[in-house]
Amino acid sequence: MQTKPSLLFEPTRIQGLKLNNRLVRSATWEGMCAEDGRPTPALGELYRTLAEGGVGLIVSGFAFVAAEGRPLPGALGLHRDDFTSELRALTTAVHRAGGVLCAQLGHAGGQTRANLCGGTPLAPSAVAAAQYQPETPREMSGAEIQRTISAFADAARRAREGGFDAVQLHAAHGYLINQFLSPHTNRRDDDYGGSLENRSRFLLDIYRAVRAALGDDYPILVKLTGADHLPEGLSEQDALRIAQALDALGVDAIEVSSGTPASGEQTPLRRPPDEADKQAYNLALARAVKAAVGCPVMVVGGIRCLESAAAIIDERQADYVSLSRPLIREPGLVRRWRDDAQPFASDCTSCNRCFKAALKGRLECLKVDAS
Ligand SMILES: Cc1cc2nc3c(=O)[nH]c(=O)nc-3n(C[C@H](O)[C@H](O)[C@H](O)COP(=O)(O)O)c2cc1C
Repeated sequence: MQTKPSLLFEPTRIQGLKLNNRLVRSATWEGMCAEDGRPTPALGELYRTLAEGGVGLIVSGFAFVAAEGRPLPGALGLHRDDFTSELRALTTAVHRAGGVLCAQLGHAGGQTRANLCGGTPLAPSAVAAAQYQPETPREMSGAEIQRTISAFADAARRAREGGFDAVQLHAAHGYLINQFLSPHTNRRDDDYGGSLENRSRFLLDIYRAVRAALGDDYPILVKLTGADHLPEGLSEQDALRIAQALDALGVDAIEVSSGTPASGEQTPLRRPPDEADKQAYNLALARAVKAAVGCPVMVVGGIRCLESAAAIIDERQADYVSLSRPLIREPGLVRRWRDDAQPFASDCTSCNRCFKAALKGRLECLKVDAS
């Protein structure tokens, strides 16, 4: 069964930014940068392939805004001023192929290790983020909070100077901004902890600083956790109020994900159910965000077939559909969905072996039967 034509493939805009369709490559850490975060030609090739594959918007992998926020080996760095020519090579490769590239700005907070971030990881409170990250982080001082807010603004400026078309703040998946939002990891009793208003302050201060650095016309997106799925974690109701606060400040789009690596079965990278109409595992959260805000809403997580993607858009459940693992398996998936008469679903099985590939320095599908 096919559902074409669909609004999915109609050109659209975020702010003034023209996009060829409503499909997004969700941020995906590639593991392909040098140890210091400098982009490599191989990463430019990967982005070029994605752009040629027809996806409307490519969000880069997690780009760390400060050395102490480095999340994983081979992650992109936007913490230094001397990467501009390599950043330009990335953005030029995408633009020449007709694509649009957004930089995801992040800070790992407590969800990293000393051997990656150069010392004891920093976090809102001294609470270990997940079992697989056993190091207990150190509570950030007020000065460190202010310095980190400025680091986001500086990184955003570098992204724009490098030719990126937009930035996205990473406020999901248990990383630093999510740690501030969540009562599970934020036990502070100053202006940045306690009430929802205080827990949201770090994200909103970053948004304001980035907006001030980039101006009103530059698209700023946020990838927001719709819920932590953790006891005493961020609730759906709180996440909705955060989405509304961002919307009131003028955010250009919110991408809804959920969970952290500590969320048991409900991690951000879970396996979707077999039934196509139940696969979009963050859709209920995204629908709730869409009902609460005026800005465009993206939904990510488990979407594997054109019918579901088209239904999400055509029924106005969300404004954009984001994909990560299916585009690792098949970077030309969007073009195939657009052009084939009988487009079959992605055969990504969400086995997450791609994560291990990125750990070894090259993002690729390692599904056992992959050719
Ligand atoms: C190898 C790998 C790396 C990822 N890196 C990031 C990242 O850097 N930033 C982010 O927000 N999400 C990251 N994700 C999560 C994806 O963006 C997405 O939210 C998740 O995989 C669910 O979508 P999917 O079912 O389409 O894969 C990563 C996922 C994978 C598989």
